[in-house]
Amino acid sequence: MPFNHFDVISGIYDRWRRFDSSHPLIDLLDLPANGIILDIGGGTGRVARALTGKGRRVVVIDISAGMLLKARGKAGLVPLISDSAALSFPAERIDRVLIVDALHHIKKQQETIDEICRLLKPGGVAVVVEPDLKALFVKFIVVLEFVLLMGSHFLKERDLLDLFERKAGQVSSIVWRGNLIVKYIKD
Ligand SMILES: C[S@@+](CC[C@H](N)C(=O)[O-])C[C@H]1O[C@@H](n2cnc3c(N)ncnc32)[C@H](O)[C@@H]1O
Repeated sequence: MPFNHFDVISGIYDRWRRFDSSHPLIDLLDLPANGIILDIGGGTGRVARALTGKGRRVVVIDISAGMLLKARGKAGLVPLISDSAALSFPAERIDRVLIVDALHHIKKQQETIDEICRLLKPGGVAVVVEPDLKALFVKFIVVLEFVLLMGSHFLKERDLLDLFERKAGQVSSIVWRGNLIVKYIKD
């Protein structure tokens, strides 16, 4: 099995990173009651746990068994080990998809966005949150992940928007506290 940095840090990850409940992601997702929500590269479920309730099924998808083990301990989350580029769900069944701080760790970025667009129901929403390369502290993170040989591939805003090019739907973006947030609504 290849070395996975996230398996190593899974034990301390939640202590090191708290989810801010004022994050615009929550409003942008416009969560329906009783819907199916996928958190891709969702890790420990740090973000996903804020989305549970109202009959929603919240599935946390990740390739790190260590991270998912932490998600398993959180009420209301369904952990699923899978590569984001090949998700075994039928097309157009998913209400919402989020992918927070994970896309730059994913090798097959275009394939992952293609999967998200395939899975979403018409009218479904995807929100992608990535570090904004213009922020100073993000430049530090870029260097840190390079030094740690994490193989990260950070995206400029234009590159991130281009991943949704030719997808039927609306794409918009905002910047919030060093995060670049892209929202996609499928036609
Ligand atoms: C920085 S963590 C973010 C976790 C979570 N989204 C959060 O914000 O706390 C990035 C996650 O992406 C996962 N990941 C990397 N490549 C992946 C892939 N191809 N498919 C699914 N998950 C992947 C890692 O295992 C890791 O848990």
